[in-house]
Amino acid sequence: MSTTDYADVPFDLKDPSLYEADRQDEFFTHLREECPVFWNPEVDGPGFWSLTKYDHVVAASKNPKIFSSARDWGGHRIFDEKEAGGAALGEAALGDTSDVDTSMISMDPPEHNIYRGMVTPGFTPPRIKALEDGIRARVRDILGKLDDQDHCDFVISVAAELPIQVLAELFGIPQSDRHKLFEWSNALIGEDDPELRPSDMFIAASFAEMSDYAMHLWQNRLETPGDDLISMLVHARIDGKPLSPERYIGTFILLIVGGNETTRQSIAGGALALSQFPEQRQKLLDDPSLIPNAVNEIIRWVSPVLHMRRTATEDTELGGQKISKGDKVVMWYVSANRDEDKFPDPFKFDVTRKDAMQLGFGIGQHFCLGSRVAELQLRVLFEELLPRYPNLQTTAPVRRIRSNFIRGIKEMQVNLNPWE
Ligand code: HEM
Repeated sequence: MSTTDYADVPFDLKDPSLYEADRQDEFFTHLREECPVFWNPEVDGPGFWSLTKYDHVVAASKNPKIFSSARDWGGHRIFDEKEAGGAALGEAALGDTSDVDTSMISMDPPEHNIYRGMVTPGFTPPRIKALEDGIRARVRDILGKLDDQDHCDFVISVAAELPIQVLAELFGIPQSDRHKLFEWSNALIGEDDPELRPSDMFIAASFAEMSDYAMHLWQNRLETPGDDLISMLVHARIDGKPLSPERYIGTFILLIVGGNETTRQSIAGGALALSQFPEQRQKLLDDPSLIPNAVNEIIRWVSPVLHMRRTATEDTELGGQKISKGDKVVMWYVSANRDEDKFPDPFKFDVTRKDAMQLGFGIGQHFCLGSRVAELQLRVLFEELLPRYPNLQTTAPVRRIRSNFIRGIKEMQVNLNPWE
């Protein structure tokens, strides 16, 4: 594909500052209307197609044969995982990390099914149901620590705390280690945000520490198996062989980022939306049975994963646009979740909304494995938070992450009891 047709396009969807400033809606609304399958040139790459409409995102997600996630075709991020994966992890300081990023999310069927199957037993409905009481106790404990204060940074005190505690439980690691998960996760997704990843050396050191930790866990679970996610990975066999250390670490990374960052952002973004739209919050206070539906709307509204990428494995066509073999195709969930054809009045935050299935968890082969754990955390959190702090209010503009991958808030100062 030639990049010249769109050389005068005044914006770049890859630019992380667009999302840091939360300005994406104006561009995506224009594109959905005028050019729903849009060629975005890149200064440092070959360019990529941007899918902005719901139906096109669904079509690409459900056709892994033509729209591949595989690392050999480039993987699931806009950058090429084979070329940039090592650099993204601070290869300069570390040495060769070339195989480290390979996990189920960068695989196609049938290989994908095998790797996903290793940890699906950890996400069955009975297992998730069994987590509820523990999650409620954690939420009460987290909120109880705020009893003697009126103000806090909601991200640090609440939104980040619950998902890392739950992830530590799923991994079967001591809760005292959970802060490491938080720091590693920030560094892993922070390639464009100097506050999260100050330098190559920083990510290299984080990565080395994380790998050591993961391998130590591997050894421990070999000797003392449990029923946690790490034990499932350690004792999985493919054609009679265990996972390679590289793939094990790749999966460890996927679970840390997937299980932590996204849920944190949904909790923070949900609390922000409820404080911005008090009439919606009142509906939940009047009728808490609406909270599960509100969780769905929060994930649509926040769309914490901005995009996933695929690569065309053959010449094809989408929305009347010819796509060539080898072209990158980026599926913007944040835009599909505002598609006017699927969500009437899409810029209205509406806790009673019952429209199309929101796409924040993706769809198809790679549909989020942890979606039910995330939904459970959000439901319980808002069930406990709303009656306790019915008027919670932000006291300053939120500070957002500089990233084109995670739509997130890194600081959100709130007054817990503004009218007391
Ligand atoms: C609100 C919270 C969450 C959101 C918005 C979210 C979003 C997503 C999305 C969009 C994908 C699809 C990737 C694709 O199609 O290429 C995905 C996959 C995945 N997520 Fe989540 N996620 C969340 C929570 C979690 C949690 C809590 C876990 C684990 C504890 C998790 C683990 C995973 C894994 C392992 C995959 C890869 C699945 C595969 O490739 O088959 N996620 N997630």
